[in-house]
Amino acid sequence: MDMINIAVLVSGRGTNLQAIINVINRGGIDGKIRIVLSDNPEAYALKRAQRNGIKTKVVHYKEYRSKDEYEQEIMKYIDNYRIDLIVLAGYMRILSPNFIKKYPYRIINIHPALLPSFPGLNAQRQAIEYGVKISGCTVHFVDEGVDSGPIILQKAVEVKDSDDEKSLSRRILKYEHRLLPRAIQLFAQNKIQIINKTRVHIKK
Ligand code: GAR
Repeated sequence: MDMINIAVLVSGRGTNLQAIINVINRGGIDGKIRIVLSDNPEAYALKRAQRNGIKTKVVHYKEYRSKDEYEQEIMKYIDNYRIDLIVLAGYMRILSPNFIKKYPYRIINIHPALLPSFPGLNAQRQAIEYGVKISGCTVHFVDEGVDSGPIILQKAVEVKDSDDEKSLSRRILKYEHRLLPRAIQLFAQNKIQIINKTRVHIKK
């Protein structure tokens, strides 16, 4: 079985990273995380990676003169490690069109809402404030828009009347942890087919 090389980009606590690591450790993904890259030196995700013997690199946004230079540095690692798939797991920056163009259909993101509803920041709060009865999570390819690329997998999650942002986030997060590793394995097995550049068909 061919193993794909994975890079994970993080900014924070890294529970989605942990979920990927757990599935890899029990043999559920035909791939290896070659590097975890963080824009934030304080990200707890870095500790999770290190604990599992995974290489980490902080590319501290503030230390670069421009977004372009910052992204060039990230690309250097992506290219040196011959990365097949870039996973955004709680990465809180928008990648520039130059970056995205370089890795077409090779960057995926997990978003805590049913896209195209509630893109951008604080998706769970947006869902609560709008008053939807169902929200969920989405794994999608990253294109040049904000949370707008082809959708790979989605899971619907009920919003209860008693929910606040915190309780809804917690319920959705549980499903994120299943959805993201599943999407990565589909990618690794080459089962994701893109139709007309916009729709995803999952091969049996
Ligand atoms: C997750 O809920 C993820 O869906 C969300 O940030 C959280 C990261 O948690 N991502 C976005 O909102 C992207 N716009 P984690 O660091 O524990 O994986």
